[in-house]
Amino acid sequence: MTNWQKSDWRNKLRVQMPDYTDAAALSAVEGRLASYPPLVFAGEARKLKKQLGAVSRGEAFLLQGGDCAESFAEFGADSIRDTFKVMLQMAMVLTYGAKVPVVKVGRMAGQMAKPRSAPTETVNGVELPSYRGDIINGFDFTPESRIPDPERMSQAYMQAAATLNLLRAFSTGGFANVHEVHKWTLGFTDANEVKKYSDMAARISDTLDFMEAAGLTTETNHELQTVDFYTSHEALLLEYEEALCRLDSTSGKWLAGSGHMIWIGDRTRQPDGAHVEFCKGVLNPIGLKCGPSMTSGHLKSLMASLNPNNEAGRLTLIARFGAGAVGDHLPRLIKAVEEEGANVVWTCDAMHGNTIKSTTGYKTRPFDSVLREVKEFFGIHNAEGTVPGGVHFEMTGKDVTECTGGVRAVTDEDLSSRYHTACDPRLNASQSLELAFLVSEELSARRNKLLQAKAG
Ligand code: PEP
Ligand code: CO
Repeated sequence: MTNWQKSDWRNKLRVQMPDYTDAAALSAVEGRLASYPPLVFAGEARKLKKQLGAVSRGEAFLLQGGDCAESFAEFGADSIRDTFKVMLQMAMVLTYGAKVPVVKVGRMAGQMAKPRSAPTETVNGVELPSYRGDIINGFDFTPESRIPDPERMSQAYMQAAATLNLLRAFSTGGFANVHEVHKWTLGFTDANEVKKYSDMAARISDTLDFMEAAGLTTETNHELQTVDFYTSHEALLLEYEEALCRLDSTSGKWLAGSGHMIWIGDRTRQPDGAHVEFCKGVLNPIGLKCGPSMTSGHLKSLMASLNPNNEAGRLTLIARFGAGAVGDHLPRLIKAVEEEGANVVWTCDAMHGNTIKSTTGYKTRPFDSVLREVKEFFGIHNAEGTVPGGVHFEMTGKDVTECTGGVRAVTDEDLSSRYHTACDPRLNASQSLELAFLVSEELSARRNKLLQAKAG
């Protein structure tokens, strides 16, 4: 990609991005961000790419999750800690089922720009521009707050930097100790309504006890108390992405310095559009959302432009069709990938195709639909002989009531009690961990089948 420039996207079709009115204010912020340190380093992005390469071969499993939209209002140590904590718990439960390492990627430290299905929203007869995430404009339903303000990019950068700083501290400072992580999970499975998961939790306890007895203790084994935790977000606001783009002196390649992995949304994946143009030129692992309107032809041309050297771990296809619809779309896209002989990670975003309006008026997602989409995704990969590489959830470690269902059932009537999301409804801590147990069962069944096939 020798001739690529980080500003080339400016000559391409611009969709889902704000039109800033104050050009001087915009370029002042861009200049400042361009002089700040990047949030991540090229070596980290390369390491993640290598691990995703293992995911593409079925030698590791990807867990990607976090807020739909991080907000300035919810920013604080507790929400970062709680989401990190539940992701570690989920990863441990998934590792147990899959018997392969779980690659952990947060929708964190930069997930602040949102594509919207309509440019405006109307409340009580008043029409205003849509909210596009805190990095762009304000959530409050007032004309002033909805004006895109470039200064918000500065605040988003500071928030992302502080979030990543805490995540790095948690990852290596003793918080991620396997025994502690499992203790939290036992706290969950002790409750009466979730007893059905206590068997697996007990088997994990046994394994940890055995390891300890065999001398694999946290004192002697660094790996048992640290984790690799990566950040990701949708690379939607390209002014921000360009300002944080840096040349990696080791490889001479460009790095998106805003996060380890970035992805292209389902609404901004035009093969000749600005978002694809930007992502083409950076060395980071790239995610690509694949919704029902993705054609085989588009997928083939996107794979060719985003991963021309067919590098394993470079491209993650994030399938998001909706429960009941996976069978209509996934097989034809798998076929397109196989025809090209392309190395990709297939992962399942079981959230974005399952949003409905509840009887109480809230935007929600039923737990059962999320689970059903994951099961359909696994079923199709098992039948096709391809690798179901991971799962992608909108979730939080907090006890919110945004998605319905789960063993600690949230009902339509409960939604109003703790509905805090700035955008789409998230799984709460209990729903997230429950899903991990159920996905872990799928992984374990798949592994047993593969082993049987090998033996027989
Ligand atoms: C998202 O991941 O928050 C999102 C908007 O997804 P999609 O582009 O798949 O609709
Ligand atoms: Co969302």
